[in-house]
Amino acid sequence: MATARELIAGSGLPLLEARMLLERALGVGRAWLIAHDDEALPDDRAAVFRDWARRRGNGEPMAYLLGEREFMGHDFQVSPAVLIPRPETELLVETALEHLRGRATPRVLDLGTGSGAIAVSIALARPDAAVQATDLSAEALAVAAANASRLGAAVTFARGDWYGALNGAAPAPTYDVIVSNPPYIAAADPHLSQGDLRHEPPLALTDRADGLEALRAIVRGAPAWLRPGGALWMEHGWDQAARVRDLLHAAGFAHVESRRDLAGIERISGGYL
Ligand SMILES: C[S@@+](CC[C@H](N)C(=O)[O-])C[C@H]1O[C@@H](n2cnc3c(N)ncnc32)[C@H](O)[C@@H]1O
Repeated sequence: MATARELIAGSGLPLLEARMLLERALGVGRAWLIAHDDEALPDDRAAVFRDWARRRGNGEPMAYLLGEREFMGHDFQVSPAVLIPRPETELLVETALEHLRGRATPRVLDLGTGSGAIAVSIALARPDAAVQATDLSAEALAVAAANASRLGAAVTFARGDWYGALNGAAPAPTYDVIVSNPPYIAAADPHLSQGDLRHEPPLALTDRADGLEALRAIVRGAPAWLRPGGALWMEHGWDQAARVRDLLHAAGFAHVESRRDLAGIERISGGYL
C-alpha cells in the first residue's frame, strides 16, 4: 500500500503532472489529495497511476492520458484519434465569432473538425447558428459528435474529403463563415517525430506534401460555399502566412489579412468574398 506522497515522489514526474494523474486515477480533487497525502491508497488505483506515470515518462501527452483538454472554457474529450486542441486555435474561434456578430442565425462550416473543438465552441457561443463540421476520419467524427452531445452543442457532422463531405446536400448550402485548422506541417518537417506530435494522428498533422496542400484545397473550394460577404479563416504554420494570403488573393478574396497569436506569430489568415 502506497501513499499519495510516495507515489508522486516515485513517479519521476513534475509535481503538477503527477498530481493531475493521481487525482484522475483516484477520482478526487486537488484539495482531497493534499489533505490525505499520507493515507494508504487502494492497490488497484496505485497500479493505474504507476502505469500512467510510466507512459507519461515515455512522452505520451497528458491530454491523452487524462482523456480531456480544455478549450475555450469547455472540457473536450480527446483520444489518440484526434489532435489535442491547442490554445492558439482559440484565435480562430474568436475571429469567426467576431465576423458573426450582428448576423442573425448564421451558417458556419468547420472543415477538419477533429475533437470538434472549433465547431462546438462556436455553436455554444452562438446557439442560433447552424454549425456544420466535417472530417475525413470517422474516428475523429465519433469523438466530435460525443463532445457536441456531452456539451449540449447543436452541430451536424459529415464525413469526407474537405468540401466533398458536403456533396449530396441539395440545394448546396452556403455559409457566412468557413473555418479550418487543417494539417499544415510539411512531410519532411522533423518536428513530426518529436514531442506530442509523435502520438497524434498523422492525418491531423501533415498533408504529406509541402504543408500547403490542404490549405490550397480549402481556399480553392471556398468561393462556391460562401455567401456574398462571407469569410474564410484558416490556421496555418508560423512561416506560411504570406503564402496563404497569396492563395486567398488568387482565389478572389478581398480584405485579406493575417492575425497574430499571443506569441506574436502570424497564426491565422482570412479574407472576405
Ligand atoms: C490539425 S487537425 C484540427 C482538428 C481540430 N479542428 C482542432 O483545431 O483541434 C486537422 C483535422 O483535419 C482532418 N483532415 C485531414 N485531411 C482531411 C481531408 N482531406 N478532409 C477532411 N478532413 C481532413 C484530420 O482528420 C484532423 O481531424
